[in-house]
Amino acid sequence: MRIGILGTGTLAIGLGTAWTRAGHEVLIGGRTPDRAEAAAAAIGEPARAVSLREAVVDRDAVLLAVAHEGLADTLRAAGAAEGSLAGIPLLDPTNAVEHGVGVLLPDDGRGIADHIADWAPGAHVVKAFHLFPADQWTEARAPVTVAMAGDDPHALDIATRLGRDVGAHPVVLGPLHRARQLEEVAGFVIGLAFAGHDPNAAIPRVPAAPEAEGR
Ligand SMILES: NC(=O)c1ccc[n+]([C@@H]2O[C@H](COP(=O)([O-])OP(=O)(O)OC[C@H]3O[C@@H](n4cnc5c(N)ncnc54)[C@H](OP(=O)(O)O)[C@@H]3O)[C@@H](O)[C@H]2O)c1
Repeated sequence: MRIGILGTGTLAIGLGTAWTRAGHEVLIGGRTPDRAEAAAAAIGEPARAVSLREAVVDRDAVLLAVAHEGLADTLRAAGAAEGSLAGIPLLDPTNAVEHGVGVLLPDDGRGIADHIADWAPGAHVVKAFHLFPADQWTEARAPVTVAMAGDDPHALDIATRLGRDVGAHPVVLGPLHRARQLEEVAGFVIGLAFAGHDPNAAIPRVPAAPEAEGR
């Protein structure tokens, strides 16, 4: 696939590396050209650095790997308001939470994914890849479930394929309005971890319903 990544930091490099290893063509777009060049170099060829606007052209999927403070500006610089992302699967891994506390920052009851959909008219937003640290995708780790939410079947299919390509077991939780629930899970995990508690021990081991096994 032809993948555009908006952002040049840890997650951009992690998923960009994993997708490049899986044979995808990755373009890295950043507001700071030097950081985009450094990220592309860290990922390795054939990944290359481009502008934010170029990173969304002719892409099968775009990953928005930017700090929450920069989401609106980044999408504006990528031409989202003019429709540059219309029809494109836009993967949102954002954790817009109060640092070290985990309280979600959107205070209107909507997920940050819903706000991203507003800032990128026509984009097919999929919440995904927000729960696990970037090195999950580059190191030899046990496979994990990537729960995702979105409205567009094609975009969910693309996100599912890209999840499998990095060794995950992707699962669609529901439509995009359930992204807020996925974001709350991350806030819960972050809140407990920063308070010195093991988040894994705070969740009961509930078996899958028998009729759902094997799905
Ligand atoms: N790192 C992880 O393991 C991980 C895991 C799951 C989800 N996430 C999510 O992925 C996103 C990126 O995280 P990260 O760890 O990769 O962050 P990071 O390494 O700090 O990189 C942040 C990126 O956002 C850009 N940025 C920061 N402030 C900005 C602003 N005000 N305007 C425009 N751009 C801005 C930076 O651009 P410059 O370089 O030009 O400053 C950089 O490209 C976040 O939403 C985070 O919650 C991260």
